[in-house]
Amino acid sequence: MVGILRIHGGRPLQGSVVISGAKNAVLPLLAACVAQSGCYRLEHCPHLTDVDATLDILSHLGCRVRWDGDAIEVDSRSVNCARIPREKMRRLRSSVIFLGALLARCSRAKLWLPGGCCIGARPIDLHLKAMRQLGAEVELQGEEVRCTAMRLQGGTIVLPFPSVGATENILLAALGCKEGVTVLNAAKEPEVVSLAQFLRAAGAKVWGEGTGEIHLTPGTPGQDTVFSVMPDRIETATYLCALAACGGKICLEGAEAKYLLPVLDALREAGVRLRVEQNRIEAKCRATRAVKALRTGPYPGFPTDAQAPMMAALLRAQGISCLEETVFEHRFRHVKALRDMGANIDVLGQTAVITGVRRLHGADVAATDLRGGAAMVIAALGAEGMSQIRETKHIFRGYDGLCQKLSGLGARICLQEG
Ligand code: EPZ
Repeated sequence: MVGILRIHGGRPLQGSVVISGAKNAVLPLLAACVAQSGCYRLEHCPHLTDVDATLDILSHLGCRVRWDGDAIEVDSRSVNCARIPREKMRRLRSSVIFLGALLARCSRAKLWLPGGCCIGARPIDLHLKAMRQLGAEVELQGEEVRCTAMRLQGGTIVLPFPSVGATENILLAALGCKEGVTVLNAAKEPEVVSLAQFLRAAGAKVWGEGTGEIHLTPGTPGQDTVFSVMPDRIETATYLCALAACGGKICLEGAEAKYLLPVLDALREAGVRLRVEQNRIEAKCRATRAVKALRTGPYPGFPTDAQAPMMAALLRAQGISCLEETVFEHRFRHVKALRDMGANIDVLGQTAVITGVRRLHGADVAATDLRGGAAMVIAALGAEGMSQIRETKHIFRGYDGLCQKLSGLGARICLQEG
């Protein structure tokens, strides 16, 4: 789906929105279906272009995949290929975790460096080093990655940084190891916890997920595994930031507040009033005030994926807000577009200083990456007049039903196919 988003901002948001399954949870779950032969049913899946790209890889590898409403059924018993073409790898970042899945399943893999948002160098050195430590032969020639592993040994991997993707890749490769695998300084993100829970449901012995130290011993693969995808905490944060930018009162059905506590704390500091219940969040806001100091970090810190949406939420906040980005080195690419809408933002190294302005005006901008594009949508909703957002392919990678959901909240937004 490509096209230009046209937004007429300046209205408060009112109503209810249903939160979809999490992009960053469903993508590793789909790769995990390849690691072990079996039949899988994933419920509550989001309809996203990144999911389509991953299903395309599964089909290429020989899996039978089928949508059934919001569920995806995967039959991976006939996987017959361990190579992923460059153009399929380049469509998203999480294609890299097919490395661990294919090593576990086929003892070899030939793929290419992954794609994904241009928010930094995003090397895969930690992934490759971990595969070597598990006993794989790894060759990187230009952008091509070739791996073979007559027998993955297992052992203990210490990550220098709690990388989400590297942790996920190690867990999938561990399914093919002779002995158990321990990951120290593992990522604690809820999406990593969800992958561990899925692997346990599929027969592996896994414990310690969410603590920074995960242990996995391959078990007897189950036959049929059914698993529900957790709600998308970044989509939830995005709609709450849109409320802060526009004012109004919304309810987020299916939202899990426990996964985004630092975001809720920051929104409360900004003047959003929140009522948290089981599987829903009610929020209302009239005017916003500055958030003095926000710093992104690995979970349970403030999520880097919510940095751009939060910045957009603070553009008209009274006072001066500071946002420090510590995870990716190039994640302020959306600032120029927000300035085009009248925002007052100074970037000093890895810190953005936002001085609240009384009003924003519409502009013609281009999305730079997934969350930067979401920030532009939020700013346009809070701006007076018309905005146009091009390069919307970035945005539809990660927001299921964006136009329908925002229109349902009273926003004047439409997609002009182009
Ligand atoms: C995942 O990316 C998410 N993507 C990202 O969400 C998210 O921002 C990120 O985790 C951090 O939470 C998916 O899950 C598909 P990392 P990932 O490995 O796995 C460096 C979104 O908007 N690093 O934790 O790529 C890396 O460059 C996306 O939904 C290495 O140096 O993140 C970065 O600076 C964007 N070498 C830092 O670690 C490596 O081998 C964190 O990366 C791997 C990572």
